[in-house]
Amino acid sequence: EQFYKMDLRREIREIPDYPKKGISFKDVTTLFKNKEAVRFVTNTIVENFKEKGITKVVGLEARGFVFGGAIADRLDAGFVPIRKKGKLPSAVLSESYELEYGMDSVEMHSDALEKHDVVLIHDDLLATGGTAVAALNLAKKCGVENIYFSFICDLEFIDTPNKAILKEYETQVLVKYQ
Ligand code: PRP
Ligand code: MG
Repeated sequence: EQFYKMDLRREIREIPDYPKKGISFKDVTTLFKNKEAVRFVTNTIVENFKEKGITKVVGLEARGFVFGGAIADRLDAGFVPIRKKGKLPSAVLSESYELEYGMDSVEMHSDALEKHDVVLIHDDLLATGGTAVAALNLAKKCGVENIYFSFICDLEFIDTPNKAILKEYETQVLVKYQ
């Protein structure tokens, strides 16, 4: 199959002053609706991780579910959702993370991952890294040692201690905002 090179940045709509003044919101729904972009993102992520022996793709609710399932299929791996608190029906592990005001938490089924899984954590966007580090901690609580990350975008101008934690892990980012 042909593997086109695409300028993904052009596919992500930027909305000035949303949700508040001074923030330029990255709207990935414009990328999601473009079939060439969907194919390109999936191919690029699969190409990068296909030799890693990934056994589970972990997708972060909600925007990390869009490609998470497609990548899992193509990598011949299972899919594990990490959800906002209170959504999963069986026994869960929880991790809280800081928001601008206060805390929030995410959950994963406690039997979703096993020690020997090779895990790819996927989300659409990395901002403060709070969500990604919460996901990392959930995978570690299951004893997983082999963990990779994939993000469509990274807001690199946001520099936080969480970002330093993530630097320890092999990470693929498709669009970087400086
Ligand atoms: C957004 C985005 C990432 C997260 C990144 O999700 O999709 O998951 O924030 O921010 P962080 O790096 O500062 O944690 P959001 O929580 O808005 O929810 P959604 O994906 O369900 O829309
Ligand atoms: Mg999200």
